Amino acid sequence: MNQRAKASVAIPTMTFLGVDRPAAIKDTLLLGMTDRSYLPKAEDPRSDWVASVAAPSFRLLARQGIRVENFCTIGTGTGLDALAAIEIFRPGKVGITDIHADVIEQAQHNILENTLPDYPLHLLAGTGDLLSPMTRSDVSFDLIYENLPNIPADEELRLEEGQNSSTFIASREEALPAFVSQYLISLHYLAIEQAYPMLNHGGRVLSSIGARIPLDIILKLSRSLGYDSSLLLYTWKVQSEPEDVIGGYAAWEKQGLGPFRFYPVKALHNAFGPRAYVDGTDDARDIDHYLSYYELSAVEAYEALRAGQSIGHTVAMLESVKP
Ligand SMILES: C[S@@+](CC[C@H](N)C(=O)[O-])C[C@H]1O[C@@H](n2cnc3c(N)ncnc32)[C@H](O)[C@@H]1O
Repeated sequence: MNQRAKASVAIPTMTFLGVDRPAAIKDTLLLGMTDRSYLPKAEDPRSDWVASVAAPSFRLLARQGIRVENFCTIGTGTGLDALAAIEIFRPGKVGITDIHADVIEQAQHNILENTLPDYPLHLLAGTGDLLSPMTRSDVSFDLIYENLPNIPADEELRLEEGQNSSTFIASREEALPAFVSQYLISLHYLAIEQAYPMLNHGGRVLSSIGARIPLDIILKLSRSLGYDSSLLLYTWKVQSEPEDVIGGYAAWEKQGLGPFRFYPVKALHNAFGPRAYVDGTDDARDIDHYLSYYELSAVEAYEALRAGQSIGHTVAMLESVKP
């Protein structure tokens, strides 16, 4: 029994992951959490990244006939993303990384406890930066998924405290292209760059990216690294932790980064209508065209938030295929 779990959340597999009766994982997932595990939004799947972005993307790929025998997630949190991949793709090998040892230990426990006992799972778990824990193992992947944070932490913020590392990042030593620094997408860029040699031919990276930046910049992320890039899915979210996140973007925007873009939630509702998401780059561009009239910079969005408005942003699942 894992001693670190402080609390646990229960996830109803079918409704949360949008799958039929599960055959590889349990009907209800019981996920233990440490203080630093990224909390699944069990009560509100629409605002949960795995329920509203990762699982629908995995289902889209599975429907396209994409086979995933080796799956890896960078920054797994509770391991819920890996469990979704196990149910949807049935991979034999699953790799998980995160920067905190307690988070990884707990995620490993969660995955093993919630996978059905006869499922032949080979789980590789490693603590460390991005894909570094996986370079030691002699493995390659068909699909690497990441939903990494974007906002550089200021000096006072302690990344090892609570869930800070789910929203904020440390400054990086690596040389980065100017557009990557300008739009605060360094971890996505570095993850996609590190993934290239670890992917099988035709393998892909899926990057969940809060599209507070132009779609062409998102596509350029992986195109500039030699991938074929497209948007698998485009959706929206109410901004979670709005004070921290919109405030964080506004502070960087004032220093000349971005500009970043947010929208009143009402405009996002109208743009997407009853659709949970649209798929493909062209439909995403149509949505953006409609939304351009309602766009708020981060500074404007922060003022609107302070005035009581509900603020959201679009989310893109960037699909980067190794040619
Ligand atoms: C927003 S949460 C996403 C959790 C889960 N993958 C999901 O999609 O819901 C981001 C996760 O990335 C982890 N993380 C942050 N920086 C990282 C890094 N440099 N390398 C590996 N993991 C990182 C955080 O600790 C956190 O668990």
